[in-house]
Amino acid sequence: MSEEGKVDLSQFDSIQDRVARAKAKAEAMRAAKSGGGAAPALPTEQKAETPPEAPQTQAETAASLPEPTAAPIPAAPPETPQEPPASPPLSTVEKAAATRRQRAATLSRAARATKASEPADAAVSRRGFFSWLAVAWVAFSAAMAAGVAAMTRFMFPNVLFEPPQAFKAGLPEDYDRGKVDERWKEKFGVWIVRNEEGIYALSTACTHLGCTPNWLEGENKFKCPCHGSGFYRTGIHFEGPAPRPLERYRVVLASDGQILVDKNKKYQQEKGQWKAPESFLRLA
Ligand code: FES
Repeated sequence: MSEEGKVDLSQFDSIQDRVARAKAKAEAMRAAKSGGGAAPALPTEQKAETPPEAPQTQAETAASLPEPTAAPIPAAPPETPQEPPASPPLSTVEKAAATRRQRAATLSRAARATKASEPADAAVSRRGFFSWLAVAWVAFSAAMAAGVAAMTRFMFPNVLFEPPQAFKAGLPEDYDRGKVDERWKEKFGVWIVRNEEGIYALSTACTHLGCTPNWLEGENKFKCPCHGSGFYRTGIHFEGPAPRPLERYRVVLASDGQILVDKNKKYQQEKGQWKAPESFLRLA
């Protein structure tokens, strides 16, 4: 063979040697992990036959370094039983009986708790019921009272309590001639006027809208303060909006000689009623 075709077999030997050492190392590591045992020693003849190694590369050096073995993990101490010593095992029948007793005790406690809470709830419910009953009874009583009051009011219609419509105004001598007497103005709404011939009674209601005129002695007239109507002492209107004269009432002498004024009978001048005998009391 030529020089180019020659192969350096010593390199193969070196490679085989390295492979053998790597396998031995792997075997040693597996043995150490699995429980020990010395790695199998390399065959002596291989060591003897091993030629001087060529300078190793960086990777080969790293692979050849001895790998650190894992530190042995101390075994955990055996667990000590913390439970009390177990009672002797129960039979199936005894276990079922114990379960039934436990369940019965639970139900009994629940029933007692329910019975204890029932009276309070029932008491509250009764109190609430009677409270509402009282409120309803009060409301019903108030409604009944209001109804009775309304019915009673309905039984007594509106009544205007007025002074009597007929009254005795005293003796004729009590009135001065040529004077307008106002003593019955407030109580009966009547002016008593005496002239030379007799006495007549004038209504104090203005014939416009019913206001009460004032007697003005200095002006010798009745003057209404509402709209200014004016009336002579005879009752005849002469100014303002009043449409007609003042009205006169029936005036007669009573059996006892007093002047009797009767407001139930009115006399209107515009109707010619002032000519009626009882519209004017003639005095001798
Ligand atoms: S009420 Fe007397 S003038 Fe009108």
